[in-house]
Amino acid sequence: MKRLCAGPENPESLSGCEIGYGRARLTARSVPSIFEAVHSFSYIGGALHCEGVDLEEVAARFGTPAYVYSAATIRNNFRRLDLAHKPIDHLVCYAVKANSNLAILDLLAGEGAGFDIVSAGELFRVLKAGGRADRCTFAGVGKTVDEIAYALKEGVYCFNVESEAELERINDVAGSLRLIAPVAVRVNPDVDARTHKFISTGKSKNKFGIGLDRAVEVYAKAGTLPHLKIRGLQTHIGSQILEAEPFAEAARKLAALVTEIKARHGIECFSIGGGIGIVYDAALASGDPEWWKSGDHSCRITPEDYAAAVLPVLAPLGLRILFEPGRFLVGNAGVLLSTVQYVKKTPSKTFTIVDAAMNDLIRPALYDGWHEIVPLKESAEPSVPMDVVGPVCESGDFFAQDRELPPLATGDRIALLSAGAYGFVMSSNYNSRPLLPEVLVDSPDVHLVRKRQSPEEMIAGEILPSTRRKAGK
Ligand code: LLP
Repeated sequence: MKRLCAGPENPESLSGCEIGYGRARLTARSVPSIFEAVHSFSYIGGALHCEGVDLEEVAARFGTPAYVYSAATIRNNFRRLDLAHKPIDHLVCYAVKANSNLAILDLLAGEGAGFDIVSAGELFRVLKAGGRADRCTFAGVGKTVDEIAYALKEGVYCFNVESEAELERINDVAGSLRLIAPVAVRVNPDVDARTHKFISTGKSKNKFGIGLDRAVEVYAKAGTLPHLKIRGLQTHIGSQILEAEPFAEAARKLAALVTEIKARHGIECFSIGGGIGIVYDAALASGDPEWWKSGDHSCRITPEDYAAAVLPVLAPLGLRILFEPGRFLVGNAGVLLSTVQYVKKTPSKTFTIVDAAMNDLIRPALYDGWHEIVPLKESAEPSVPMDVVGPVCESGDFFAQDRELPPLATGDRIALLSAGAYGFVMSSNYNSRPLLPEVLVDSPDVHLVRKRQSPEEMIAGEILPSTRRKAGK
């Protein structure tokens, strides 16, 4: 496969679709096609590369398992989404939960991103990485008093409020600090995002937000609380959504309410949340712009599709529009490198046992998440069915079941693709496995952006009870 680095070697322009939104029009022809490739991973001379850097060399240098990210992919994804919404006043607030490594936050802060945070820890990270608090929106159903106080003192742009009890708490904390808290109410539009039940959030049965029917009342209450400033309205319908229509439906369902709240409370922003889905199943092929033009990819969403669907609804609102993408920006930009330890054949199956495990990447175990697996050395051999599993003592510790892959042997290296979002951040020390290193390729540079945890670091916070020490054990 030819190298499909999202770089200036693909100078052609996008096919000439037009994106209309209200009275303004953007011709997609003006968008350079370097933005078409979803990632910078491809085979060059039979070896998998990231931005032209051989991943075998990365594996040899930093060991496996290891996460590797492409800076160019993240930048391109950000710029492409940003550009698609250029005609309206907007801010792309990266959802930090998807990948919170300081180097990624620094890179996105440099691109001009805001941040969608869900904890004091995430705000701390953003500030450490040089991000600005006044470009952060603070979401989440369970903000503690301490978290609210910290975010208020740092001056976050907005708290996205999920309940009346939270409105009261934020008002109280702000009062005690003699500050005014900017708030937006998260309104649940009750739309079906058609995604996995664990990551669908916009239905009325989910724990998130306030129902459309109660929103006016809740805003009226917010208006009576003296230490609040009503700054906006927020929604988020779910994650890994592969069609534009649910986003447009949510925007349409909320447009009248947003207009009413704007008239009554003078809001300045509307956040439509995150949730743009990425390609998992053909992750490598989708790095090729040609792939997007071939076959039936109707259930694949591009930033331009997304913009074409939502801009006609959002532009007339005359507000600053916030987007909160996480997975879209970083998902396809990361891989998990792993080395085959053993191949175990039973009468019914072949198990390829690798050195990464469910504690390193939990998506397959938790959501039946499907990640494409490719060998670092391209193989012409016919594929055979196998289970790719980790060493953890659970049957749920698998990356693929009955997957057709080229035969693999001890010492062979593989890459699990599309692991840049909700990969490292959801990892744990389960089975006392140290946390993995993270590597950022920013061609021609290769940066170690998190070192592999040592066994000593893994136990560093643990304290033996003093009674045990006294007893001289
Ligand atoms: N905004 C809010 C309020 C959210 O709850 C989320 C994600 C986002 C934005 C970003 O969504 P994204 O653009 O990344 O889809 N661990 C799961 C995904 C959980 C998503 C939680 N909320 C996974 O691995 O699929």
